Amino acid sequence: VFAHIDRAPEDPILGVTVAYNKDPSPIKLNLGVGAYRTEEGKPLVLNVVRQAEQQLVNDRSRVKEYLPIVGLADFNKLSAKLILGADSPAVQENRVTTVQCLSGTGSLRVGGEFLARHYHQLTIYIPLPTWGNHPKVFTLAGLSVKTYRYYDPATRGLNFQGLLEDLGSAPSGAIVLLHACAHNPTGVDPTIQQWEQIRQLMRSKSLLPFFDSAYQGFASGSLDADAQPVRMFVADGGECLVAQSYAKNMGLYGERVGALSIVCKTADVASRVESQLKLVIRPMYSNPPIHGASIVATILKDRDMYNEWTIELKEMADRIISMRQKLFDALRARGTPGDWSHIIKQIGMFTFTGLNSEQVAFMTREYHIYMTSDGRISMAGLSSKTVPHLADAIHAAVTR
Ligand code: LMR
Repeated sequence: VFAHIDRAPEDPILGVTVAYNKDPSPIKLNLGVGAYRTEEGKPLVLNVVRQAEQQLVNDRSRVKEYLPIVGLADFNKLSAKLILGADSPAVQENRVTTVQCLSGTGSLRVGGEFLARHYHQLTIYIPLPTWGNHPKVFTLAGLSVKTYRYYDPATRGLNFQGLLEDLGSAPSGAIVLLHACAHNPTGVDPTIQQWEQIRQLMRSKSLLPFFDSAYQGFASGSLDADAQPVRMFVADGGECLVAQSYAKNMGLYGERVGALSIVCKTADVASRVESQLKLVIRPMYSNPPIHGASIVATILKDRDMYNEWTIELKEMADRIISMRQKLFDALRARGTPGDWSHIIKQIGMFTFTGLNSEQVAFMTREYHIYMTSDGRISMAGLSSKTVPHLADAIHAAVTR
């Protein structure tokens, strides 16, 4: 009965790791998936995460009971404060409902399913380009996906005029997906002034913001600065949704820890929204896993651990920024044709190089460098030792 089934293609991002793992070359380099690596090219478990885990293991009173459908209460409260600000009136007035979800993807999916059931507008606008999983998540959630202009290949920067035009002609009430910071894949973010214009336009048309916050702390190294666009939308008293991931900023990739917050107008509405979120979650996976959320809650509620986390986070962000400079310098030193200043201007984990899919295929074939075919490279996967190899490959790709 299954003989007719076609083989599905690998995922455009996670499939890069599958191909990388099959390559026996000793010089191979995986710059596909956005996962932080140390200078030695190794995955990093933060010290503060180890510390929190130790504390959890030592606490013999801890059990492995089911969490409530909405997850760990402390985790939810602390997550809302982390993204919205400890002094956020929306949090203080209990107008925010937060549910623990399976990292960013799970938060987006639960939010999407909730909107498809209860919101009057089923169209969601996503930026062009965006993370490859966004259209799939929202389509399967039951929303109709449209795009708005975002990136301008000519300037390798923001197409702000196009963005305003497209959101300006979106139907009233449409949902708009916004990357809170460190836009994936382009590394191009609006300025704060541009965010303010976007906010005004969206509020004037009653467009509903749905933020994807996967990189808080990674764009600037500051948790508060990276949350500013979200906080601007919450400060005006209007509704919004926020999907948070702790994959990158706490290095908890495989623990799948995230949260969906829905900011409502009143506490009563928020509690009714939460009751409906439970009906979305229960038939999907019943309730979320306990370990990762306990790590996050342990860190966020202890002042010393929180401070240590911010230091380790800044170290990761700074290492990525230094890789940008090193790659830029290496291309300049080789006289590689083209203006590569976007490498140092873009922010977050990724550089959107401008290399085309043929050039990417060439670099993979000849240099064993693995990256997504849209030319995105994960700067977090690069180290001082591997920069020359990447620069050689880019040079060869653009001069052949
Ligand atoms: C990425 O874009 O590389 C990450 O968000 C990982 C993923 O799940 O795609």
